[in-house]
Amino acid sequence: MPAETIAVLSRHEEQRASHLIDTFQATIGTPARCVVRAPGRVNLLGEHTDYNGLPVLPMAIDRSVLIALAPRLDRTIRVFNTARRFGPRTYTLSDAIAPYADGDWGNYSKAAAQELARRCGAQLQRGAEFLVDGDIPSGAGLSSSSALVVANALALLAANDVELPFETLAALLPVAERYVGTLSGGMDQATSLLARAGHALRIDFFPLRVRTVPVPAGYSFVVCHSLIQAEKSGAAKQGYNLRVIECRLVCRVLDRLLSAGLPRSLTTLGDLAVLFPHRPLLDFLPSLTAQLPERPLSLTEVAALIGTSPQRLREECGAVGDAFALLRRARHVLSEAERVAQAETALRAGDALAFGQLMDASHASCRDDYEVSCPELEELIALARDAGAVGARLTGAGFGGCTVNLLPEADVPGFLTRIDRHFYRSRLAHSERVGDYRFIFKPQAGAGVFRL
Ligand code: GLA
Repeated sequence: MPAETIAVLSRHEEQRASHLIDTFQATIGTPARCVVRAPGRVNLLGEHTDYNGLPVLPMAIDRSVLIALAPRLDRTIRVFNTARRFGPRTYTLSDAIAPYADGDWGNYSKAAAQELARRCGAQLQRGAEFLVDGDIPSGAGLSSSSALVVANALALLAANDVELPFETLAALLPVAERYVGTLSGGMDQATSLLARAGHALRIDFFPLRVRTVPVPAGYSFVVCHSLIQAEKSGAAKQGYNLRVIECRLVCRVLDRLLSAGLPRSLTTLGDLAVLFPHRPLLDFLPSLTAQLPERPLSLTEVAALIGTSPQRLREECGAVGDAFALLRRARHVLSEAERVAQAETALRAGDALAFGQLMDASHASCRDDYEVSCPELEELIALARDAGAVGARLTGAGFGGCTVNLLPEADVPGFLTRIDRHFYRSRLAHSERVGDYRFIFKPQAGAGVFRL
């Protein structure tokens, strides 16, 4: 087995794995053959850039999905979960698997299985018994769902003794995850698979490229949950998908604006960087500003701008929304890509304060131009700045979920006391543990397989 695929387990994960192996034997009645691990991630900078083909800067966290597994002789896949609220699911491995109802946790397993069946064909013959154990908070913007897809994919491959390079999987699994109806990019799966302990990653897309970036010495990343659930397959889905469509529409506007100078039409905003490698992305904003108002446009207005009929456009966009804030979305995406480049430079220079300022600027852009913040996230950000964070921003898709805050290590205890007192105390029940809602994360290694 290639070294990279051998799982590295933290002490806590070792305990979880050992318990999982016992529970597997007790639940399924046979011994587990392997345990796979796929971590969640926190994105440090570069929000809503991945599906635009522009870079991100995340790191893997020490919260993960573990799956204990044993192969079966038929093509049945049975998926159990140590958490009772996720009931058992059974389905048959094939390249066309009908989904469960919207929001059902079993769809993440089916998403991985269907895509691998398509990709691996006859190599993937065996079904399997899976027992899942996850400790990534769901709806927190920490990629619990992508970690579940990655873990299911690794588990199914292990059950069939098939190996695929992690880079291949990192490109394949974002496509797989569209099964649940979100038009997500590839950051989450790539981070879960390719992360390196002690480092953040700069990830570029189409084609996927990953390089390690140092994190500031003497500083900690503290992640705080706003207590607003932002489930990828739930309410946040429509807001997310609308942003993806808005960005595609910006490409269509640019196609018309730049037509004479474009060798081909734009698929993503990132194509600008490919087609004009020596031109800063922000150079394209003035022509968009001259063409587009600040306010959202109606479908009819967008159709007129890009030279199509409203009916046609409605068919292409589906029912994601009726108002399209094209200029604001473009301003966020193009400036965020520029911030990722500057952030990488700051981190390589060990300049935590410069990195913190870029985090702040990213948050303002996510709030004002991408409009993915919410009052609870804003309250947490204001508190964090008062409590000494050198940078604070929402992380992940937004619409709820978490903030990520950069702090000198020595300031972390005082920071937590203030956040606990002013944010969590009035909101959490006595029985709830505040430690389940805010975390200090160090960068962890990516996914792996542990043969027993
Ligand atoms: C979600 C998606 C990612 C990415 C982020 C926003 O986590 O799964 O692909 O688009 O939102 O940066």
